[in-house]
Amino acid sequence: MGFLALLYPILCLHFMLFYFVQPLPLCHPDQKLALLQFKSSFSYVNSTTFHFRCDQSYPTTSSWKNENVMEDCCSWEGVTCDTALGHVISLDLNCSWLQGNQFNGPIPSSSFSNLQLLTHLDFSANKLEGRLPPSLFELSQISLLRSSNNQLIGPIPNRIVRYSNLEYLDLSSNFLNGTIPSWCYSLPALRHLNLGHNQFTGHITKISSYSLEELDLSSNKLYSSFPKSIYDLQNLTSLSLSSNNLSGLVDLDMLPQNLQLLDLSENSLLTFSLNTNTHATIPDLQELYLSSCNISNFLNFKYFHNLRTLHLSNILYFSSNNLSDLVDLVRLSKNLIDLDLSRNNFPSFSLDINDNDSTFPNLQEVNLSSCNLTTFPKFLKSLHMLEWLDLSNNKICGNVPKWMLGKDSMYYLKLSHNSLTGIDSQISWHHLEYLDLSSNLLQGELPLPPNSTNMVFFSVANNKLSGNISPSIFHLSNARSLGTLVLSHNNFSGKIPRCIGSFHRYLQVLDLKMNNLSGIIPPQIFQKGNMLTTLNFNGNQLEGTLPSSLALCKELQVLDVGNNKLEDTFPNWLETLQELQVLILRGNKFHGIIRDSKAKDSFPKLRIFDISNNKFTGHLPTSFLEHFKAMMNLHEGKTQVEYMRIPGYYDSVTVTMKGLVFFLERILTIFTTIDFSKNKFDGEIPELIGKLQSLKGINLSHNYLTGSIPKSMGNLTNLEWLDLSWNNLKGEIPIELININGLSDLKLSHNKLVGCIPGGKQFNTFTNDSYEGNLGLRGFPLSSTCGRDERKQPPSSAEEDDEESGFGWKAVAVGYGCGAIFGMSMGYFVFSKGKPKWLLRMIEGNDYHRSSKRVKRPRNNNARGGVRRN
Ligand SMILES: *[C@@H]1O[C@H](CO)[C@@H](O)[C@H](O)[C@H]1NC(C)=O
Ligand SMILES: *[C@@H]1O[C@H](CO)[C@@H](O)[C@H](O)[C@H]1NC(C)=O
Ligand SMILES: *[C@@H]1O[C@H](CO)[C@@H](O)[C@H](O)[C@H]1NC(C)=O
Ligand SMILES: *[C@@H]1O[C@H](CO)[C@@H](O)[C@H](O)[C@H]1NC(C)=O
Ligand SMILES: *[C@@H]1O[C@H](CO)[C@@H](O)[C@H](O)[C@H]1NC(C)=O
Ligand SMILES: *[C@@H]1O[C@H](CO)[C@@H](O)[C@H](O)[C@H]1NC(C)=O
Ligand SMILES: *[C@@H]1O[C@H](CO)[C@@H](O)[C@H](O)[C@H]1NC(C)=O
Ligand SMILES: *[C@@H]1O[C@H](CO)[C@@H](O)[C@H](O)[C@H]1NC(C)=O
Ligand SMILES: *[C@@H]1O[C@H](CO)[C@@H](O)[C@H](O)[C@H]1NC(C)=O
Ligand SMILES: *[C@@H]1O[C@H](CO)[C@@H](O)[C@H](O)[C@H]1NC(C)=O
Ligand SMILES: *[C@@H]1O[C@H](CO)[C@@H](O)[C@H](O)[C@H]1NC(C)=O
Repeated sequence: MGFLALLYPILCLHFMLFYFVQPLPLCHPDQKLALLQFKSSFSYVNSTTFHFRCDQSYPTTSSWKNENVMEDCCSWEGVTCDTALGHVISLDLNCSWLQGNQFNGPIPSSSFSNLQLLTHLDFSANKLEGRLPPSLFELSQISLLRSSNNQLIGPIPNRIVRYSNLEYLDLSSNFLNGTIPSWCYSLPALRHLNLGHNQFTGHITKISSYSLEELDLSSNKLYSSFPKSIYDLQNLTSLSLSSNNLSGLVDLDMLPQNLQLLDLSENSLLTFSLNTNTHATIPDLQELYLSSCNISNFLNFKYFHNLRTLHLSNILYFSSNNLSDLVDLVRLSKNLIDLDLSRNNFPSFSLDINDNDSTFPNLQEVNLSSCNLTTFPKFLKSLHMLEWLDLSNNKICGNVPKWMLGKDSMYYLKLSHNSLTGIDSQISWHHLEYLDLSSNLLQGELPLPPNSTNMVFFSVANNKLSGNISPSIFHLSNARSLGTLVLSHNNFSGKIPRCIGSFHRYLQVLDLKMNNLSGIIPPQIFQKGNMLTTLNFNGNQLEGTLPSSLALCKELQVLDVGNNKLEDTFPNWLETLQELQVLILRGNKFHGIIRDSKAKDSFPKLRIFDISNNKFTGHLPTSFLEHFKAMMNLHEGKTQVEYMRIPGYYDSVTVTMKGLVFFLERILTIFTTIDFSKNKFDGEIPELIGKLQSLKGINLSHNYLTGSIPKSMGNLTNLEWLDLSWNNLKGEIPIELININGLSDLKLSHNKLVGCIPGGKQFNTFTNDSYEGNLGLRGFPLSSTCGRDERKQPPSSAEEDDEESGFGWKAVAVGYGCGAIFGMSMGYFVFSKGKPKWLLRMIEGNDYHRSSKRVKRPRNNNARGGVRRN
């Protein structure tokens, strides 16, 4: 179903109007019909939470009904008609739950001149996929065209008509690529051009739309020199070219005088020139973003003090510039609202300016993360408006001082990755929504999270806290809003409080892994209608069985109870959890045979299934393998590789990969593995294992498996590690395994395999260890040889280069090092009261190594907000 097909009914409708010339105050039945057809050509995502951009979202077109003849389609939501003639001139379908099908199929060559009456078309913040159809660019009357925040791919087609009216073109936040056609820069009436957050490449050609007021080409892959034609855009008020690969000179004196926002962050090859004697530069500049611009190398920060704009800017982002000069804060604007000097190298004293009251009366947001700070900068003391503070990744030691705790306006505080040892008094911020104290040296009892009705995120992971998890933390006002509670990697002991799940209606992440908790998991821990997506109890001393109330966690994506002392049979009753992606039972005392699946749709999204190190018996659970849909076709058509996460929290997991135990701090959504090792499974490996084509790793070692290695395994072309060692497998190694190009770790040792080891490709790289303890195996690399004719060769003789697998899992394990990883899979995020203010900033900010441009705060309405991105 093409975009064109979607527009086609409207086209017809104008065609009709051509014949029905008399003015129609109400929409014509045919026109109505056309809109209804238009409606039916979309599918919907039914969701109470949709795009993070949408303040509210609902299926706008659901009001499009033909219940009676008098129904006026011009009054339908999202539809605007020409008042005189009843022509549909505008369709506003942003945030409308629209899910497009692929824009594919041939585009009909019928005339689209009839569509010329449409002046506004807004499809933004939906889930439209596929390419932009050229027909979209034939609307000659169009003045506003928005399709931002969708999943469109491919290039911008050539325009077919002359656009004399186009004022607003926004295709941002898609996956569009190719070069930006020069027509985009030469539209005579254009005022807003936003093509940011795509994958455009190439040069920026001459910009001759002199009416431009806003230009945003940020977060692409443009490798142009800084376009000089920008100097001539006298009406330009906002310029964002951040996160590209721009080079060349920017003459700050030449920039348009009306600029209010300038964002050139993350273009490390730019150089800047500035006549420091001119004190009239850019008088209206309010927001200046020059993060990661390699400024220290060409311009001393002191020069910037002379730049008049610094005295006016309300928002100043200078992060990641290797600045090591003393920053004379006093010379910065008194109007500052938002200051980001993160990732620089200030000597700690440089920020200790006079802490008198008047310095920054309006300063609300301060980011000084990764600045080599050793103390809380004193100037923070005087900031009475402070709301948002990030001091993470410094070397601050000692206690959180009392004066910090008195800042009642604070809603976001991130102090992670320091050396803090304690907190001077009870945390008392009443408006706090986000508190991250993880990776410090906090000792003693669990600090109670603030008794704030807005509290959404609380983490004390990776500290040295001990004692019981006080049940009183669940009786605070926050009990009704808390979404993420992370107490992992501490030394908490005692039992899991009974009320943990029932109090927290919005709890999505409960992470207690790597502590010393004992006793049973409380049986009634979860109640119907809960929102839990991650439950992690790994690495404690928990006993007893899995509580069946887990079956009530319909949104559960990650269940990790590995490395405890649980004693139970396999929880077949979990198979109905439709969202479950990660199930880890490893290292417990689970036992018995795994009964056949009863559900038609069991574990449809499971991708990490680890039941190793238990006492399971009987055959491998074939009936489950049959249903693992996610393991069969996981990344078909996926344009993005993502981590499992919600803002502020990454899911993590311990897995055995290539024979080594890894703690994956972040889980990629393409990580797919099964681990049945170290149990007592017997019987044969089922042939249908070959259907699980997304698998990266299989470990069936240390069981009592018999029969031969299924040939179908050769179909597992994504496989990187395969461990079948320590079983009773017989027969020959199937030649088909040679087709697995990415296989870098093979263990077949200690079986009863015979015959010649296949030769060629990956098999030339395996050593003796892969095969030892199989007395009947011969050929390379073993010392016993195979005859020339005996040695099997792959059917196709051409030796391909062994390609390293696409991702270095080791790099992924520590969470860095791969440029291909971007975006995220946040599942969804539900809040008790609107969207937290820090959310958009986290989604678009430097958390993603993107330009950390300030994000306008969303309205804090009372509607239930939320996020869904997949
Ligand atoms: C969405 O689905 C729910 C059931 O899951 C249903 O009650 C509701 O009517 C649906 N909403 C729309 C607009 O389709
Ligand atoms: C759609 O966009 C318009 C601005 O073009 C905005 O006012 C409106 O709130 C948006 N709709 C939703 C549901 O976000
Ligand atoms: C653009 O993206 C499409 C689909 O993702 C891809 O097939 C094509 O090769 C890309 N083109 C360029 C020029 O990168
Ligand atoms: C620039 O803005 C002014 C004032 O809004 C307007 O009169 C003028 O036509 C604009 N210039 C261009 C080239 O559009
Ligand atoms: C940036 O552009 C230069 C040429 O100007 C090119 O050599 C370099 O590879 C580009 N870097 C990236 C990351 O695209
Ligand atoms: C910073 O600029 C200098 C030249 O001015 C260049 O040699 C260096 O590579 C740049 N650093 C980065 C990180 O781009
Ligand atoms: C940062 O500056 C120091 C000197 O102040 C220099 O030695 C170092 O190479 C610079 N780092 C980068 C990445 O430019
Ligand atoms: C505040 O500090 C500035 C700069 O040091 C100083 O000039 C001014 O007198 C101080 N004001 C007060 C009230 O102390
Ligand atoms: C951080 O500060 C310490 C002094 O507090 C200094 O010795 C060290 O060199 C600084 N580190 C960097 C990377 O500048
Ligand atoms: C939490 O605050 C509420 C009012 O906001 C109060 O009624 C309640 O007693 C407080 N609880 C604790 C444990 O301080
Ligand atoms: C491998 O997959 C192909 C196509 O999906 C199928 O025809 C073939 O039977 C499979 N091979 C084995 C041995 O299962």
